[in-house]
Amino acid sequence: MRLLVTGGSGFIGSNFIRHMLASREDVSIVNLDKLTYAGNPQNLADMAARHGGARYHFIKGDICDACLLDDILHGKAVDAVINFAAETHVDRSIADSAPFLTTNVMGTHALLEAARKARVERFVHISTDEVYGALGPTGTFTETTPLAPNSPYSASKAGADMLCRAYFKTHGMPVVVTRCSNNYGPYQFPEKLIPLMILKARAGEPLPVYGDGLHVRDWIHVLDHCRGVELALMKGEPGEVYNFGSDNEKANLEVVRTILAILGKSEDLIRFVADRPGHDRRYAMGYEKAQARLGFTPLIGFADGLRETVRWYEDNAAWLSAVQTGAYREFMDSWYGERK
Ligand code: NAD
Ligand code: TYD
Repeated sequence: MRLLVTGGSGFIGSNFIRHMLASREDVSIVNLDKLTYAGNPQNLADMAARHGGARYHFIKGDICDACLLDDILHGKAVDAVINFAAETHVDRSIADSAPFLTTNVMGTHALLEAARKARVERFVHISTDEVYGALGPTGTFTETTPLAPNSPYSASKAGADMLCRAYFKTHGMPVVVTRCSNNYGPYQFPEKLIPLMILKARAGEPLPVYGDGLHVRDWIHVLDHCRGVELALMKGEPGEVYNFGSDNEKANLEVVRTILAILGKSEDLIRFVADRPGHDRRYAMGYEKAQARLGFTPLIGFADGLRETVRWYEDNAAWLSAVQTGAYREFMDSWYGERK
């Protein structure tokens, strides 16, 4: 099976490519990635060395580039498209939303259109639980929960989901949408909560917790998400949406305290800072449909997964310092400077 994976040099995409190349010998992958600040060829250096030229091929490019997409998909070169490419950080979407609309909405449209013309047999679009908005203290999201996005990031993801739906309904395209809760694990860019807190704690710097720290996220290990995407690719029904979660709701403060405990650092490093505007209070994912119809079951418990993730960042200190470029520090200084 020949796959076009977009955004494969980011966090989840690189874990997915590594998982697929390791577990399925019949799979070959073209990775199309623009290499934005979040895309890093180092994330797949091992795969390029082992499978490069044969089962793995990298193309630097933009999912908004219709001509490039036509070239890649020409002549039924690809059996399925899996679209991970996106601008993904909620805080950046608050600071500057334009790239989110360009890549997440217009880019998904360009990819759908190119895949439609090339008659690609399967199109898996990777979405997020954030399209459902925020929950109160009880209940979970299901696939029929109305979309109510609250950030420019989640609004742009919801826009892409609606385009996927329209291409299925209008053109009969075999589109499957997956929505997953917050991921953690190796290769996550240190702007997201867990790697950022590991980085800060290791450096003995203050750990910025938004608001009262009682916002809840439903954490899933990235490999469980990747296994879910694989199931959606192989067994998902066209036109259907599948939620993935891990029954693992945690308040941010609890996650931060656990990271400090694993690293043997003091809770005095915690700093409560001004809240993120429009901050969703709670996410919790109901994934019974994926369980019943795809056979999805998360396998990695949070205690083990988080300990291993902390160890990965300790063992990969060179990766962690290389991604902290000047542009990274500039964004972080400006964003957190405003939250003091
Ligand atoms: P990430 O920011 O780590 O990686 C995104 C990748 O997309 C990068 O490699 C980047 O270079 C690439 N990219 C960005 N714009 C592009 C463009 N125009 N053309 C080609 N490539 C482009 O993101 P991630 O955390 O790996 O998320 C991957 C997908 O999963 C996203 O669609 C995101 O919305 C979704 N998702 C993420 C989470 C999470 O917790 N991280 C949870 C649910 C869903
Ligand atoms: P994040 O990793 O940005 O994911 P998302 O906003 O997509 O859920 O944030 C996870 C939670 O952690 C969210 O409630 C915001 C909070 N948070 C902080 O308290 N401090 C921080 O510095 C960051 C980046 C996030």
